[in-house]
Amino acid sequence: MGNSVLVHTDWVKGTINKHIYGQFAEHLGRCIYEGLWVGEESSIPNTDGIRNDVLKALQNLNIPVLRWPGGCFADEYHWKDGIGPKEQRKKMINTHWGGVVENNHFGTHEFFRLCELLGAEPYINGNVGSGTVQEMSEWVEYMTFDGESPMANWRQENGREHPWKLKYFGVGNENWGCGGNMRPEYYADLYRQFQTYVRNYGDNVLYKIAGGANVDDYHWTEVLMREAAPFMDGLSLHNYTIPGSWEEKQHALGFNEAAWFETLKKALHMDELITRHSTIMDKYDPNKRIGMIVDEWGTWFLPEPGTNPGFLYQQNTLRDALVAGLHFHIFHQHHERIHMTNIAQMVNVLQAMILTEGNKMLLTPTYHIFEMFKVHQDGKVLATSVEHSHYEFNDEKLPEFTVSSSEDAEGHIHISLCHLNPNASSKVNVELRGLQSDIDVTGTVLTSSSMQDHNTFTQLDKVKPVTFADYSFHQQHQLDVVLPPMSVVMLTIKKK
Ligand code: AHR
Repeated sequence: MGNSVLVHTDWVKGTINKHIYGQFAEHLGRCIYEGLWVGEESSIPNTDGIRNDVLKALQNLNIPVLRWPGGCFADEYHWKDGIGPKEQRKKMINTHWGGVVENNHFGTHEFFRLCELLGAEPYINGNVGSGTVQEMSEWVEYMTFDGESPMANWRQENGREHPWKLKYFGVGNENWGCGGNMRPEYYADLYRQFQTYVRNYGDNVLYKIAGGANVDDYHWTEVLMREAAPFMDGLSLHNYTIPGSWEEKQHALGFNEAAWFETLKKALHMDELITRHSTIMDKYDPNKRIGMIVDEWGTWFLPEPGTNPGFLYQQNTLRDALVAGLHFHIFHQHHERIHMTNIAQMVNVLQAMILTEGNKMLLTPTYHIFEMFKVHQDGKVLATSVEHSHYEFNDEKLPEFTVSSSEDAEGHIHISLCHLNPNASSKVNVELRGLQSDIDVTGTVLTSSSMQDHNTFTQLDKVKPVTFADYSFHQQHQLDVVLPPMSVVMLTIKKK
């Protein structure tokens, strides 16, 4: 079978919500501390305690939304411990993640400052598992109430006169597991109760997100939708790409083609998960008012040898880049239901954008995918049909490539292609149907000579995007594109 892509440039199917490109930063390992926050007194150059090198790199990604403070950490976080003079803040043990002492120096004010510097919307995850209704309710009052009130006055005493704007608020996290080991019926009732007191103050209107299912727990989605749909704006879903199994994870480096194949196959499984959870949501919410929020996704490998196993620090190869690209294509495809996604996590944890070591920093292949794909944010989804051959391995097969096309506000068309086959290049005919004018084409590619390739503190640019020029005009609006083995290509089409 030949490989071809037909982009209907005059047929818009919907919009890619820019929040699909969201991120997640938890008090876990070296994500917040060291990765983002070094404190005002640090010798590492910083802005109000946030390290400048990481900040600058992240600003370049146009991160639309940032989830905090967890994860599992959210359900044992007590926000009042993280405000006021730093030296007086209560310490706690981060029991989920390495049992280290958390000094609470990064709290609500510091998080909003980070979001402000990034230009990202804050997404706060509240504590249901070990918190109270009052504690959650007062946090929202502290952050968003403009006027005389105990919490608003306290915020002002702590140096913030005006309330912040806050839209996204999660009511619990993984309440089937680390967030309280609850049954869905019980959590659905708790969700209804807690969210009642999560108030809208003034013109601040919250988008309330209920804690959703783990992977393929369709029963959880069914119960939550049946019992609590009218009370939620979003319902979350968590799924990690884990070659091997949860019990027997594999290394981020030193893998073979079998692991490459299995990882990409598991990444593609996200499509089935979204489809099946969506079908249940459709039953109770046929107009798709409720957004699916995939607020944790990404690869999960064994921690790097010699690092604290509770810190989930892993390297990031070309394989991770493919995983990210494949996910974005699936999220775009489900644009009608997917409102937001948040990769886990931003710095030094799981499938990170950035790794740090002291005052050094490196950008991972995953960072480069976020950079290349940012042109899709808020783009119009263009109807695209594909014919593809298969990448075969040990009697199993995956698509040779996947594709997604969008049009940005200036009318430029962006076509991203993820090429899964590590052994051979593939020729793809790309037709742009419906265009009236001549076009200019430019391209970028992320690839490398080995699937293991990754960036290190001594070799920062082993894997980085470069100009892609392996295409030729077949006809006025038809290109022959040659995708290198194991690559991600972004084509940009400008009308003349
Ligand atoms: O991202 C790491 C952890 O994975 C999160 O804290 C938790 O929600 C999930 O199990």
